[in-house]
Amino acid sequence: MKTFFKILGGLVLLVLLAAGGFAAFVAIDGVPRYAAKPPDLKVEVTPERVARGRLISNMLCSECHMDVKTGRLTGHRLPDLPAEFGPAYSKNLTQDRTVGIGSWTDGEIAFMLRTGIRRDGQYAPPWMPKLPRMKDEDILSIIAFLRSDDSLVQADATADRESEPTFLVKFLTHVAFKPFDYPSAPIQAPDTADKIAYGRYLALDAFDCFACHSGDFKKMNDRVPEKSFRFFGGGNSMPDLTGRPINTANLTPDPETGIGKWTEEQFVKAVREGVRPDGRLLRYPMARLPEFTEGEAEAIFAYLKTVPPIRNEVARNFDPMGGPALTDGKALFAKYGCVVCHANKGVGIGDVTKAKVDFPADSSLQAWIRNPSAFKPLTKMPSFQGVIREEEYAPLIAYVRDLAK
Ligand code: HEC
Ligand code: HEC
Ligand code: HEC
Repeated sequence: MKTFFKILGGLVLLVLLAAGGFAAFVAIDGVPRYAAKPPDLKVEVTPERVARGRLISNMLCSECHMDVKTGRLTGHRLPDLPAEFGPAYSKNLTQDRTVGIGSWTDGEIAFMLRTGIRRDGQYAPPWMPKLPRMKDEDILSIIAFLRSDDSLVQADATADRESEPTFLVKFLTHVAFKPFDYPSAPIQAPDTADKIAYGRYLALDAFDCFACHSGDFKKMNDRVPEKSFRFFGGGNSMPDLTGRPINTANLTPDPETGIGKWTEEQFVKAVREGVRPDGRLLRYPMARLPEFTEGEAEAIFAYLKTVPPIRNEVARNFDPMGGPALTDGKALFAKYGCVVCHANKGVGIGDVTKAKVDFPADSSLQAWIRNPSAFKPLTKMPSFQGVIREEEYAPLIAYVRDLAK
Protein backbone atom coordinates (compact mmCIF):
# COMPACT_ATOMS: atom_id res chain seq x y z
CA MET A 1 0.00 0.00 0.00
CA LYS A 2 2.76 2.39 0.97
CA THR A 3 4.60 1.83 -2.32
CA PHE A 4 1.36 2.37 -4.19
CA PHE A 5 0.90 5.81 -2.62
CA LYS A 6 4.54 6.61 -3.25
CA ILE A 7 4.12 5.81 -6.95
CA LEU A 8 0.85 7.73 -7.11
CA GLY A 9 2.42 10.73 -5.35
CA GLY A 10 5.33 10.60 -7.77
CA LEU A 11 2.99 10.51 -10.73
CA VAL A 12 0.96 13.47 -9.48
CA LEU A 13 4.19 15.38 -8.93
CA LEU A 14 5.34 14.56 -12.46
CA VAL A 15 2.03 15.71 -13.95
CA LEU A 16 2.17 18.92 -11.92
CA LEU A 17 5.74 19.54 -13.02
CA ALA A 18 4.85 18.90 -16.64
CA ALA A 19 1.83 21.22 -16.42
CA GLY A 20 3.91 23.88 -14.70
CA GLY A 21 6.61 23.49 -17.31
CA PHE A 22 4.08 23.82 -20.13
CA ALA A 23 2.59 26.91 -18.48
CA ALA A 24 6.02 28.50 -18.17
CA PHE A 25 6.75 27.61 -21.80
CA VAL A 26 3.44 29.15 -22.95
CA ALA A 27 4.06 32.30 -20.91
CA ILE A 28 7.51 32.78 -22.42
CA ASP A 29 6.71 31.58 -25.95
CA GLY A 30 3.70 33.90 -26.21
CA VAL A 31 1.39 33.66 -29.21
CA PRO A 32 3.04 31.12 -31.56
CA ARG A 33 4.78 31.94 -34.85
CA TYR A 34 4.53 29.92 -38.02
CA ALA A 35 6.14 29.96 -41.45
CA ALA A 36 4.41 32.44 -43.77
CA LYS A 37 4.04 30.87 -47.22
CA PRO A 38 2.13 33.46 -49.22
CA PRO A 39 0.81 32.40 -52.62
CA ASP A 40 1.99 34.03 -55.82
CA LEU A 41 -0.97 36.31 -56.46
CA LYS A 42 -1.61 39.55 -58.31
CA VAL A 43 -5.13 40.90 -57.92
CA GLU A 44 -6.59 42.78 -60.83
CA VAL A 45 -8.23 45.92 -59.38
CA THR A 46 -11.54 46.45 -61.18
CA PRO A 47 -14.29 48.92 -60.19
CA GLU A 48 -16.64 45.98 -59.50
CA ARG A 49 -14.18 44.37 -57.14
CA VAL A 50 -13.45 47.64 -55.34
CA ALA A 51 -17.19 48.24 -54.82
CA ARG A 52 -17.74 44.69 -53.56
CA GLY A 53 -14.65 44.88 -51.34
CA ARG A 54 -15.81 48.15 -49.84
CA LEU A 55 -19.16 46.57 -48.99
CA ILE A 56 -17.51 43.55 -47.35
CA SER A 57 -15.13 45.82 -45.46
CA ASN A 58 -18.07 47.86 -44.20
CA MET A 59 -19.61 44.64 -42.83
CA LEU A 60 -16.51 42.80 -41.68
CA CYS A 61 -13.50 45.04 -41.19
CA SER A 62 -14.39 48.69 -40.60
CA GLU A 63 -15.87 48.34 -37.16
CA CYS A 64 -12.58 46.96 -35.84
CA HIS A 65 -10.08 48.79 -38.03
CA MET A 66 -11.79 52.17 -38.49
CA ASP A 67 -10.35 55.02 -36.45
CA VAL A 68 -12.84 57.88 -36.08
CA LYS A 69 -9.97 60.26 -35.39
CA THR A 70 -8.25 59.71 -38.75
CA GLY A 71 -11.39 58.71 -40.68
CA ARG A 72 -9.32 55.84 -42.10
CA LEU A 73 -8.62 52.20 -41.34
CA THR A 74 -5.67 53.04 -39.10
CA GLY A 75 -6.74 50.77 -36.23
CA HIS A 76 -7.64 51.33 -32.59
CA ARG A 77 -8.02 49.52 -29.30
CA LEU A 78 -10.85 46.99 -29.49
CA PRO A 79 -13.33 48.48 -27.02
CA ASP A 80 -15.51 45.47 -26.40
CA LEU A 81 -12.99 42.71 -25.83
CA PRO A 82 -13.62 40.85 -22.56
CA ALA A 83 -10.81 41.72 -20.11
CA GLU A 84 -9.79 38.05 -19.82
CA PHE A 85 -8.25 38.34 -23.31
CA GLY A 86 -6.22 41.48 -22.64
CA PRO A 87 -6.00 44.75 -24.55
CA ALA A 88 -5.86 44.20 -28.32
CA TYR A 89 -5.22 46.80 -31.00
CA SER A 90 -6.32 46.39 -34.58
CA LYS A 91 -3.76 47.43 -37.15
CA ASN A 92 -3.21 50.14 -39.72
CA LEU A 93 -4.56 48.76 -43.03
CA THR A 94 -3.89 51.88 -45.10
CA GLN A 95 -1.47 51.98 -48.00
CA ASP A 96 1.29 53.55 -45.87
CA ARG A 97 4.37 51.49 -46.71
CA THR A 98 5.90 51.46 -43.23
CA VAL A 99 3.11 51.17 -40.68
CA GLY A 100 0.27 50.25 -43.04
CA ILE A 101 0.14 47.32 -45.43
CA GLY A 102 1.22 49.27 -48.53
CA SER A 103 4.35 47.16 -48.92
CA TRP A 104 2.61 43.79 -48.36
CA THR A 105 2.14 41.74 -51.52
CA ASP A 106 -1.37 40.68 -52.55
CA GLY A 107 -0.31 37.12 -51.68
CA GLU A 108 0.76 38.16 -48.16
CA ILE A 109 -2.61 39.82 -47.53
CA ALA A 110 -4.53 36.82 -48.89
CA PHE A 111 -2.40 34.44 -46.79
CA MET A 112 -3.07 36.50 -43.64
CA LEU A 113 -6.83 36.70 -44.26
CA ARG A 114 -7.11 32.97 -44.94
CA THR A 115 -4.73 31.49 -42.38
CA GLY A 116 -4.26 34.16 -39.70
CA ILE A 117 -0.48 34.23 -40.17
CA ARG A 118 0.99 37.69 -40.60
CA ARG A 119 3.78 38.19 -43.10
CA ASP A 120 6.34 38.14 -40.26
CA GLY A 121 5.01 34.73 -39.19
CA GLN A 122 3.16 35.98 -36.11
CA TYR A 123 -0.21 34.30 -35.66
CA ALA A 124 -3.07 36.77 -35.12
CA PRO A 125 -5.11 35.63 -32.06
CA PRO A 126 -8.85 34.95 -32.37
CA TRP A 127 -9.62 38.66 -32.00
CA MET A 128 -8.73 39.02 -35.68
CA PRO A 129 -11.25 36.88 -37.61
CA LYS A 130 -9.97 34.48 -40.28
CA LEU A 131 -11.70 33.79 -43.57
CA PRO A 132 -10.63 30.26 -44.55
CA ARG A 133 -13.89 29.41 -46.32
CA MET A 134 -14.92 32.69 -47.95
CA LYS A 135 -15.22 32.42 -51.73
CA ASP A 136 -12.08 33.41 -53.66
CA GLU A 137 -13.75 36.26 -55.51
CA ASP A 138 -14.67 38.00 -52.23
CA ILE A 139 -11.11 37.68 -50.90
CA LEU A 140 -9.83 39.22 -54.16
CA SER A 141 -12.42 41.98 -53.80
CA ILE A 142 -11.24 42.82 -50.27
CA ILE A 143 -7.66 43.08 -51.54
CA ALA A 144 -8.74 45.21 -54.53
CA PHE A 145 -10.51 47.56 -52.10
CA LEU A 146 -7.42 47.81 -49.86
CA ARG A 147 -5.42 48.78 -52.98
CA SER A 148 -7.99 51.27 -54.27
CA ASP A 149 -8.14 55.05 -54.10
CA ASP A 150 -10.95 54.89 -51.51
CA SER A 151 -10.31 57.50 -48.80
CA LEU A 152 -10.57 54.87 -46.04
CA VAL A 153 -7.32 53.24 -47.13
CA GLN A 154 -5.20 56.17 -48.29
CA ALA A 155 -1.71 56.13 -46.76
CA ASP A 156 -1.74 57.38 -43.19
CA ALA A 157 1.29 57.02 -40.92
CA THR A 158 -0.64 56.56 -37.64
CA ALA A 159 1.53 54.09 -35.72
CA ASP A 160 0.38 50.57 -34.81
CA ARG A 161 0.19 49.47 -31.20
CA GLU A 162 0.99 45.87 -30.34
CA SER A 163 -1.71 43.84 -28.62
CA GLU A 164 -1.00 42.50 -25.14
CA PRO A 165 -2.44 38.99 -25.07
CA THR A 166 -3.15 37.56 -21.61
CA PHE A 167 -1.92 34.14 -20.53
CA LEU A 168 -5.33 32.77 -21.49
CA VAL A 169 -4.90 33.95 -25.09
CA LYS A 170 -1.37 32.56 -25.26
CA PHE A 171 -2.62 29.28 -23.84
CA LEU A 172 -5.60 29.06 -26.20
CA THR A 173 -3.41 29.78 -29.23
CA HIS A 174 -1.16 26.90 -28.17
CA VAL A 175 -3.86 24.33 -27.58
CA ALA A 176 -7.08 25.33 -29.35
CA PHE A 177 -6.84 28.08 -31.94
CA LYS A 178 -4.39 27.24 -34.72
CA PRO A 179 -3.81 28.80 -38.14
CA PHE A 180 -5.87 27.50 -41.02
CA ASP A 181 -4.25 25.88 -44.03
CA TYR A 182 -4.17 28.07 -47.11
CA PRO A 183 -6.87 26.58 -49.40
CA SER A 184 -5.44 24.10 -51.89
CA ALA A 185 -8.41 24.26 -54.28
CA PRO A 186 -10.55 27.14 -55.59
CA ILE A 187 -13.46 28.16 -53.32
CA GLN A 188 -16.83 29.14 -54.70
CA ALA A 189 -20.07 29.97 -52.91
CA PRO A 190 -23.03 27.57 -53.27
CA ASP A 191 -25.63 28.46 -55.88
CA THR A 192 -27.89 31.24 -54.55
CA ALA A 193 -30.90 29.23 -55.76
CA ASP A 194 -30.15 26.66 -53.03
CA LYS A 195 -31.32 28.94 -50.21
CA ILE A 196 -30.33 26.74 -47.28
CA ALA A 197 -26.84 26.00 -48.59
CA TYR A 198 -26.30 29.63 -49.52
CA GLY A 199 -27.58 30.80 -46.12
CA ARG A 200 -25.25 28.36 -44.39
CA TYR A 201 -22.37 29.75 -46.43
CA LEU A 202 -23.23 33.31 -45.40
CA ALA A 203 -23.79 32.52 -41.71
CA LEU A 204 -20.80 30.21 -41.20
CA ASP A 205 -18.24 30.73 -43.93
CA ALA A 206 -18.45 34.33 -45.02
CA PHE A 207 -19.81 36.31 -42.06
CA ASP A 208 -19.20 34.28 -38.90
CA CYS A 209 -22.64 34.84 -37.36
CA PHE A 210 -22.11 31.59 -35.44
CA ALA A 211 -19.01 32.88 -33.63
CA CYS A 212 -20.89 35.50 -31.61
CA HIS A 213 -24.21 33.62 -31.53
CA SER A 214 -22.91 30.33 -30.13
CA GLY A 215 -22.48 29.94 -26.38
CA ASP A 216 -18.88 30.94 -25.73
CA PHE A 217 -15.95 32.23 -27.83
CA LYS A 218 -13.58 29.97 -25.91
CA LYS A 219 -15.56 26.89 -26.87
CA MET A 220 -16.27 27.66 -30.50
CA ASN A 221 -15.09 25.24 -33.13
CA ASP A 222 -13.75 27.34 -35.99
CA ARG A 223 -13.12 24.31 -38.25
CA VAL A 224 -16.48 22.59 -37.84
CA PRO A 225 -18.76 25.44 -36.70
CA GLU A 226 -21.65 23.06 -36.00
CA LYS A 227 -19.57 21.51 -33.20
CA SER A 228 -19.31 24.82 -31.37
CA PHE A 229 -20.63 24.81 -27.80
CA ARG A 230 -24.34 25.72 -27.84
CA PHE A 231 -24.33 26.28 -31.60
CA PHE A 232 -26.41 29.40 -32.36
CA GLY A 233 -27.99 29.07 -28.91
CA GLY A 234 -26.76 32.52 -27.81
CA GLY A 235 -25.80 33.73 -24.36
CA ASN A 236 -22.25 34.66 -25.36
CA SER A 237 -21.62 37.74 -23.26
CA MET A 238 -19.75 40.79 -24.54
CA PRO A 239 -19.43 44.24 -23.03
CA ASP A 240 -20.80 47.26 -24.89
CA LEU A 241 -18.86 50.55 -24.96
CA THR A 242 -20.08 51.40 -21.46
CA GLY A 243 -18.89 48.05 -20.13
CA ARG A 244 -22.39 46.65 -19.67
CA PRO A 245 -22.65 43.00 -20.73
CA ILE A 246 -24.85 42.30 -23.76
CA ASN A 247 -25.69 38.66 -24.37
CA THR A 248 -26.04 37.39 -27.91
CA ALA A 249 -29.49 36.20 -28.94
CA ASN A 250 -30.58 32.60 -29.37
CA LEU A 251 -31.02 32.24 -33.16
CA THR A 252 -32.05 28.59 -33.15
CA PRO A 253 -35.64 27.76 -34.17
CA ASP A 254 -36.69 27.05 -30.57
CA PRO A 255 -40.18 28.64 -30.41
CA GLU A 256 -39.93 29.90 -26.81
CA THR A 257 -36.33 31.03 -26.40
CA GLY A 258 -35.12 31.29 -30.01
CA ILE A 259 -36.54 32.79 -33.19
CA GLY A 260 -38.93 29.90 -33.94
CA LYS A 261 -41.93 32.21 -33.99
CA TRP A 262 -40.33 34.96 -36.08
CA THR A 263 -41.53 35.45 -39.64
CA GLU A 264 -39.06 35.74 -42.49
CA GLU A 265 -40.00 39.40 -42.84
CA GLN A 266 -39.29 40.11 -39.16
CA PHE A 267 -35.92 38.44 -39.42
CA VAL A 268 -34.95 40.36 -42.55
CA LYS A 269 -35.89 43.63 -40.85
CA ALA A 270 -33.87 42.76 -37.72
CA VAL A 271 -30.79 41.92 -39.77
CA ARG A 272 -30.92 44.71 -42.34
CA GLU A 273 -32.31 47.53 -40.18
CA GLY A 274 -31.45 46.42 -36.66
CA VAL A 275 -35.08 46.56 -35.46
CA ARG A 276 -36.67 43.67 -33.53
CA PRO A 277 -40.31 42.63 -34.00
CA ASP A 278 -41.19 44.38 -30.69
CA GLY A 279 -39.78 47.66 -32.07
CA ARG A 280 -36.62 47.58 -29.98
CA LEU A 281 -33.36 48.51 -31.66
CA LEU A 282 -30.69 45.84 -31.57
CA ARG A 283 -27.73 47.02 -29.56
CA TYR A 284 -24.06 47.11 -30.34
CA PRO A 285 -22.13 44.88 -30.95
CA MET A 286 -24.93 43.55 -33.18
CA ALA A 287 -24.63 45.78 -36.22
CA ARG A 288 -27.42 46.58 -38.61
CA LEU A 289 -26.40 44.99 -41.90
CA PRO A 290 -28.08 46.88 -44.75
CA GLU A 291 -25.34 45.52 -47.02
CA PHE A 292 -27.21 42.21 -47.21
CA THR A 293 -29.80 42.00 -49.96
CA GLU A 294 -33.23 40.81 -48.88
CA GLY A 295 -32.51 37.54 -50.64
CA GLU A 296 -29.33 37.04 -48.64
CA ALA A 297 -31.06 37.73 -45.30
CA GLU A 298 -33.86 35.34 -46.34
CA ALA A 299 -31.30 32.66 -47.14
CA ILE A 300 -29.78 33.01 -43.66
CA PHE A 301 -33.25 32.67 -42.17
CA ALA A 302 -33.93 29.54 -44.23
CA TYR A 303 -30.66 28.05 -43.02
CA LEU A 304 -31.25 28.94 -39.35
CA LYS A 305 -34.58 27.09 -39.55
CA THR A 306 -32.56 23.90 -40.14
CA VAL A 307 -30.28 24.35 -37.11
CA PRO A 308 -31.14 22.04 -34.16
CA PRO A 309 -33.31 24.05 -31.72
CA ILE A 310 -31.73 24.77 -28.35
CA ARG A 311 -33.83 25.77 -25.38
CA ASN A 312 -31.79 28.53 -23.80
CA GLU A 313 -33.44 31.53 -22.23
CA VAL A 314 -30.91 34.32 -22.68
CA ALA A 315 -30.96 37.21 -20.20
CA ARG A 316 -31.33 40.24 -22.48
CA ASN A 317 -31.36 43.07 -19.88
CA PHE A 318 -33.42 45.32 -22.17
CA ASP A 319 -34.41 48.65 -20.72
CA PRO A 320 -38.17 48.97 -20.24
CA MET A 321 -39.95 50.54 -23.19
CA GLY A 322 -42.21 53.54 -22.86
CA GLY A 323 -42.35 55.44 -19.57
CA PRO A 324 -42.60 59.20 -19.26
CA ALA A 325 -40.81 61.49 -21.73
CA LEU A 326 -37.42 62.63 -20.38
CA THR A 327 -36.17 66.19 -20.41
CA ASP A 328 -32.54 65.57 -19.42
CA GLY A 329 -30.32 65.26 -22.53
CA LYS A 330 -27.72 63.10 -20.83
CA ALA A 331 -30.39 60.69 -19.59
CA LEU A 332 -31.81 60.52 -23.13
CA PHE A 333 -28.35 59.83 -24.57
CA ALA A 334 -28.21 56.83 -22.23
CA LYS A 335 -31.87 55.76 -22.58
CA TYR A 336 -31.69 55.45 -26.35
CA GLY A 337 -28.34 53.69 -26.33
CA CYS A 338 -26.45 56.54 -28.03
CA VAL A 339 -23.88 56.08 -25.30
CA VAL A 340 -23.37 52.45 -26.28
CA CYS A 341 -21.93 53.40 -29.67
CA HIS A 342 -20.67 56.89 -28.87
CA ALA A 343 -19.38 56.34 -25.31
CA ASN A 344 -19.77 58.99 -22.63
CA LYS A 345 -17.79 61.64 -24.48
CA GLY A 346 -19.62 61.19 -27.78
CA VAL A 347 -16.71 59.54 -29.60
CA GLY A 348 -16.95 55.78 -30.02
CA ILE A 349 -17.54 53.93 -33.27
CA GLY A 350 -18.86 57.27 -34.58
CA ASP A 351 -18.06 60.83 -33.55
CA VAL A 352 -21.09 62.98 -32.60
CA THR A 353 -18.95 66.11 -32.44
CA LYS A 354 -18.74 66.01 -36.24
CA ALA A 355 -22.33 67.23 -36.29
CA LYS A 356 -21.01 70.71 -35.56
CA VAL A 357 -19.72 70.86 -39.14
CA ASP A 358 -22.05 68.40 -40.90
CA PHE A 359 -25.35 69.45 -39.32
CA PRO A 360 -25.03 73.02 -38.02
CA ALA A 361 -28.81 73.54 -37.91
CA ASP A 362 -30.75 71.66 -35.21
CA SER A 363 -33.39 70.69 -37.76
CA SER A 364 -30.83 68.94 -39.94
CA LEU A 365 -29.28 67.19 -36.92
CA GLN A 366 -32.74 65.99 -35.96
CA ALA A 367 -33.21 64.66 -39.48
CA TRP A 368 -29.93 62.73 -39.13
CA ILE A 369 -30.93 61.15 -35.80
CA ARG A 370 -34.36 60.29 -37.18
CA ASN A 371 -33.01 58.46 -40.17
CA PRO A 372 -29.23 58.44 -40.68
CA SER A 373 -29.43 56.03 -43.59
CA ALA A 374 -31.19 58.73 -45.64
CA PHE A 375 -27.80 60.49 -45.53
CA LYS A 376 -25.50 57.46 -45.50
CA PRO A 377 -27.27 54.32 -46.69
CA LEU A 378 -24.74 51.92 -45.17
CA THR A 379 -24.23 53.63 -41.83
CA LYS A 380 -24.21 51.43 -38.72
CA MET A 381 -26.29 54.01 -36.84
CA PRO A 382 -29.92 52.83 -36.67
CA SER A 383 -32.95 54.92 -37.47
CA PHE A 384 -34.67 56.44 -34.41
CA GLN A 385 -37.84 57.41 -36.26
CA GLY A 386 -40.75 56.32 -34.07
CA VAL A 387 -38.41 55.40 -31.21
CA ILE A 388 -37.50 58.80 -29.77
CA ARG A 389 -40.49 60.92 -28.72
CA GLU A 390 -40.91 64.21 -30.55
CA GLU A 391 -40.56 66.32 -27.40
CA GLU A 392 -37.33 64.52 -26.51
CA TYR A 393 -35.39 65.67 -29.57
CA ALA A 394 -34.72 69.22 -28.27
CA PRO A 395 -32.99 68.21 -24.99
CA LEU A 396 -31.15 65.36 -26.73
CA ILE A 397 -29.82 67.66 -29.45
CA ALA A 398 -28.80 70.27 -26.87
CA TYR A 399 -26.79 67.56 -25.13
CA VAL A 400 -25.13 66.45 -28.39
CA ARG A 401 -24.19 70.09 -29.02
CA ASP A 402 -22.71 70.26 -25.49
CA LEU A 403 -20.55 67.22 -26.18
CA ALA A 404 -18.99 69.02 -29.15
CA LYS A 405 -17.92 71.98 -27.02
C1 HEC B 1 -13.04 41.81 -34.32
C2 HEC B 1 -12.10 42.80 -34.77
C3 HEC B 1 -11.48 42.67 -36.15
C4 HEC B 1 -12.12 42.51 -37.35
C5 HEC B 1 -13.62 42.34 -37.57
C6 HEC B 1 -11.10 42.53 -38.37
N1 HEC B 1 -9.88 42.69 -37.79
FE1 HEC B 1 -8.06 42.69 -38.77
N2 HEC B 1 -7.10 42.76 -36.99
C7 HEC B 1 -7.70 42.89 -35.76
C8 HEC B 1 -6.68 42.89 -34.72
C9 HEC B 1 -6.93 43.03 -33.22
C10 HEC B 1 -5.44 42.75 -35.39
C11 HEC B 1 -4.08 42.65 -34.74
C12 HEC B 1 -3.79 41.20 -34.52
C13 HEC B 1 -2.70 40.97 -33.51
O1 HEC B 1 -2.85 41.44 -32.38
O2 HEC B 1 -1.75 40.29 -33.87
C14 HEC B 1 -5.74 42.67 -36.82
C15 HEC B 1 -4.78 42.52 -37.81
C16 HEC B 1 -5.04 42.56 -39.17
C17 HEC B 1 -4.04 42.49 -40.22
C18 HEC B 1 -2.53 42.38 -40.00
C19 HEC B 1 -1.91 43.76 -40.15
C20 HEC B 1 -0.54 43.86 -39.63
O3 HEC B 1 0.07 44.94 -39.83
O4 HEC B 1 -0.04 42.93 -39.00
C21 HEC B 1 -4.69 42.57 -41.42
C22 HEC B 1 -4.07 42.55 -42.81
C23 HEC B 1 -6.10 42.67 -41.12
N3 HEC B 1 -6.29 42.67 -39.74
C24 HEC B 1 -7.10 42.80 -42.08
C25 HEC B 1 -8.45 42.73 -41.80
C26 HEC B 1 -9.49 42.71 -42.82
C27 HEC B 1 -9.25 42.83 -44.31
C28 HEC B 1 -10.67 42.56 -42.16
C29 HEC B 1 -12.05 42.37 -42.77
C30 HEC B 1 -12.20 41.25 -43.66
C31 HEC B 1 -10.39 42.53 -40.73
N4 HEC B 1 -9.04 42.65 -40.55
C32 HEC B 1 -11.35 42.40 -39.73
C33 HEC B 1 -9.05 42.98 -35.51
C34 HEC B 1 -10.06 42.79 -36.44
C1 HEC C 1 -19.98 40.76 -32.89
C2 HEC C 1 -20.91 39.73 -32.50
C3 HEC C 1 -22.08 39.43 -33.40
C4 HEC C 1 -22.05 39.00 -34.71
C5 HEC C 1 -20.84 38.76 -35.60
C6 HEC C 1 -23.41 38.78 -35.09
N1 HEC C 1 -24.26 39.08 -34.07
FE1 HEC C 1 -26.30 39.04 -34.12
N2 HEC C 1 -26.39 39.71 -32.22
C7 HEC C 1 -25.29 40.00 -31.42
C8 HEC C 1 -25.76 40.50 -30.14
C9 HEC C 1 -24.89 40.93 -28.97
C10 HEC C 1 -27.16 40.50 -30.19
C11 HEC C 1 -28.13 40.96 -29.11
C12 HEC C 1 -28.36 42.44 -29.27
C13 HEC C 1 -29.31 43.03 -28.26
O1 HEC C 1 -29.69 42.33 -27.33
O2 HEC C 1 -29.68 44.20 -28.42
C14 HEC C 1 -27.53 40.01 -31.51
C15 HEC C 1 -28.84 39.89 -31.99
C16 HEC C 1 -29.20 39.40 -33.23
C17 HEC C 1 -30.55 39.25 -33.69
C18 HEC C 1 -31.82 39.61 -32.92
C19 HEC C 1 -32.40 38.42 -32.25
C20 HEC C 1 -33.25 38.76 -31.07
O3 HEC C 1 -33.84 37.84 -30.49
O4 HEC C 1 -33.32 39.93 -30.67
C21 HEC C 1 -30.50 38.73 -34.97
C22 HEC C 1 -31.67 38.38 -35.87
C23 HEC C 1 -29.10 38.55 -35.29
N3 HEC C 1 -28.35 38.98 -34.21
C24 HEC C 1 -28.64 38.03 -36.49
C25 HEC C 1 -27.28 37.94 -36.82
C26 HEC C 1 -26.81 37.47 -38.10
C27 HEC C 1 -27.66 36.98 -39.24
C28 HEC C 1 -25.43 37.56 -38.07
C29 HEC C 1 -24.44 37.27 -39.18
C30 HEC C 1 -24.63 37.97 -40.41
C31 HEC C 1 -25.08 38.09 -36.76
N4 HEC C 1 -26.22 38.30 -36.02
C32 HEC C 1 -23.78 38.33 -36.35
C33 HEC C 1 -23.96 39.86 -31.76
C34 HEC C 1 -23.48 39.48 -33.01
C1 HEC D 1 -25.32 51.19 -33.29
C2 HEC D 1 -24.43 52.30 -33.09
C3 HEC D 1 -24.98 53.71 -32.96
C4 HEC D 1 -25.99 54.16 -32.14
C5 HEC D 1 -26.86 53.35 -31.20
C6 HEC D 1 -26.04 55.58 -32.33
N1 HEC D 1 -25.12 55.98 -33.25
FE1 HEC D 1 -24.76 57.91 -33.83
N2 HEC D 1 -23.36 57.21 -35.14
C7 HEC D 1 -22.95 55.91 -35.29
C8 HEC D 1 -21.95 55.85 -36.33
C9 HEC D 1 -21.23 54.59 -36.82
C10 HEC D 1 -21.75 57.16 -36.78
C11 HEC D 1 -20.79 57.64 -37.87
C12 HEC D 1 -21.55 57.89 -39.12
C13 HEC D 1 -21.13 56.95 -40.21
O1 HEC D 1 -20.05 57.17 -40.77
O2 HEC D 1 -21.85 56.00 -40.50
C14 HEC D 1 -22.64 58.00 -36.00
C15 HEC D 1 -22.71 59.38 -36.13
C16 HEC D 1 -23.45 60.22 -35.31
C17 HEC D 1 -23.43 61.65 -35.37
C18 HEC D 1 -22.54 62.50 -36.28
C19 HEC D 1 -23.13 62.66 -37.63
C20 HEC D 1 -22.18 63.38 -38.55
O3 HEC D 1 -21.62 62.75 -39.44
O4 HEC D 1 -21.96 64.57 -38.35
C21 HEC D 1 -24.31 62.10 -34.44
C22 HEC D 1 -24.64 63.55 -34.11
C23 HEC D 1 -24.88 60.94 -33.80
N3 HEC D 1 -24.33 59.81 -34.36
C24 HEC D 1 -25.82 60.99 -32.79
C25 HEC D 1 -26.39 59.88 -32.21
C26 HEC D 1 -27.44 59.94 -31.22
C27 HEC D 1 -28.04 61.21 -30.65
C28 HEC D 1 -27.77 58.65 -30.91
C29 HEC D 1 -28.84 58.15 -29.97
C30 HEC D 1 -30.17 58.63 -30.20
C31 HEC D 1 -26.90 57.79 -31.71
N4 HEC D 1 -26.10 58.57 -32.47
C32 HEC D 1 -26.93 56.40 -31.66
C33 HEC D 1 -23.42 54.83 -34.60
C34 HEC D 1 -24.45 54.86 -33.66
